Amino acid sequence: MSKIVSIHSFRRGTGKSIMTANIAALLAAEGKRVVVLDTNLESPSLHILFHLDENEITHSLNEYLWGQCTINQIIYDVTPRLGGSVSGQVLLIPASSNLNHIKRIVHEGYDAGILNYGCYELVDKLGTDALLLDTHAGLNAETLASISIAQTMAIILRLDKQDYQGTSVMVDLANKIDMPPQRLVVANEVPADYNFPSVKVALEKTFGCEVIAVLPHSEELMALASAHIFTLRYPDHPLTTALKGLAARLIA
Ligand SMILES: Nc1ncnc2c1ncn2[C@@H]1O[C@H](COP(=O)(O)OP(=O)(O)OP(=O)(O)O)[C@@H](O)[C@H]1O
Ligand SMILES: [Mg+2]
Repeated sequence: MSKIVSIHSFRRGTGKSIMTANIAALLAAEGKRVVVLDTNLESPSLHILFHLDENEITHSLNEYLWGQCTINQIIYDVTPRLGGSVSGQVLLIPASSNLNHIKRIVHEGYDAGILNYGCYELVDKLGTDALLLDTHAGLNAETLASISIAQTMAIILRLDKQDYQGTSVMVDLANKIDMPPQRLVVANEVPADYNFPSVKVALEKTFGCEVIAVLPHSEELMALASAHIFTLRYPDHPLTTALKGLAARLIA
């Protein structure tokens, strides 16, 4: 059965998209089939991480949400573009980078019910092992919709005081509505000289929620500048090891 995992953060730029792309690549490297949805319709980025040029995107998630195309028309097999040999498959549902499309999303939002229906359609049609939702930062109607269909929600934060309060709000909300069944926290960009087990314990105390990964800041990841999938380029890096553990937990 396909597991639906939604990736969130309260603040922007915490590493949601990088993490989503790498988890998908790692799962595919283990032979799994994964669908990745770019539901960050206001600032789409996954197509860049998977080397899918804007010109190659004939239909995107936007058009599906506006009833202008079918789900089959927005599935892109990006496996050959991962830059490493993988026995599984990564199927990307990209969002549009067209200025008018983004403007329309900013002004009108979208019907989250259609997105949820699309996710169920994908699960039914493709029978993949996992469906990963990369989301827009913050809390909005779409956040609620994606956590209502997910089995697991991962909230990412950096060890920055500005991230803490918003993360607490997200955890509290999920706890209050008791959705999704599994609610997990991930710390990212933790300086390498920190005591990682202590960071995990402190965050679990703060949020009352399991912290499934404490990911190190990586100069190599920064230098890669989204030009390649990090974990396939650096298979023995400590960040890759940590992301492997995270990927396994998220789809367990
Ligand atoms: N562990 C890390 N070490 C170093 N740099 C990192 C790490 N994780 C993420 N970054 C960097 O942080 C930046 C933001 O990452 P990313 O685009 O994945 O964030 P995001 O949460 O998806 O942002 P947005 O909210 O805008 O969608 C990227 O430039 C990425 O290289
Ligand atoms: Mg992003």
